Amino acid sequence: MKTRNGIGLVLLVLFVALGQWAANGETEIFESKGRASRPDVAPVRNEQYAQECGACHFAYQPGLLPAASWEKIMGNLSDHFGDNAALAPEDQAALRAYLVSNAADRVSDKRSERIVRSLKGKQVPIRITELPYIVRQHDEIPKRLLQENKDVRSLSNCAACHTLAEKGIYDEETVKIPGGGQWDD
Ligand code: HEC
Ligand code: HEC
Repeated sequence: MKTRNGIGLVLLVLFVALGQWAANGETEIFESKGRASRPDVAPVRNEQYAQECGACHFAYQPGLLPAASWEKIMGNLSDHFGDNAALAPEDQAALRAYLVSNAADRVSDKRSERIVRSLKGKQVPIRITELPYIVRQHDEIPKRLLQENKDVRSLSNCAACHTLAEKGIYDEETVKIPGGGQWDD
């Protein structure tokens, strides 16, 4: 009688341990799925920014450039890459504040951190497409699918290939180059 109880207890302990192990396994899978669907950079949640800075091109997320870069861009809107993107002083100040406080070096999102790390401090680029990290991510895309692709033309056109760019999601699985289909490298 005693031994049988002993075996029962051992089995119970094993069973509980196994259950815990299985449950742990499940939460891990669930969490890794959660991570994968977390945006690479925080999406734009400022209506004024989306309107004003999304009028001519994709409204780039603030987390794609460090604060110094946004300061430089916002300090020279009347000569913005050859265009005049000047705003009323109060709008300019409001958008500048939004960009700076959500800049790549002020947040902790995955891609923002990598962008900042790739800059090694001193550079103040005004193009996302000239960031070492972004250049590196795209250096294998052939001209045929980029510059010579009438539906893309320029790397600046993030949303042409990144189907969830607007949500701040840039991972490879969500890339679809027009005329190029799913990307697999
Ligand atoms: C009148 C049109 C216009 C408006 C409005 C505008 N932009 Fe631009 N922007 C441009 C042009 C043109 C380029 C250069 C595009 C190219 O070379 O492919 C550009 C490029 C950029 C780039 C660099 C993209 C790259 O290649 O990495 C950033 C960043 C940018 N704009 C931010 C802003 C912000 C912030 C605002 C709002 C304050 C804004 N833009 C409003 C026309 C505009
Ligand atoms: C011509 C289509 C195209 C355009 C335009 C484009 N990308 Fe990409 N992007 C890709 C492809 C393809 C990859 C995957 C590269 C690889 O890993 O081989 C990628 C990778 C990335 C990654 C890394 C994702 C990962 O899972 O490692 C980031 C971040 C990114 N792009 C951001 C941007 C941003 C920001 C812009 C706009 C300034 C942009 N891309 C414009 C095609 C494009």
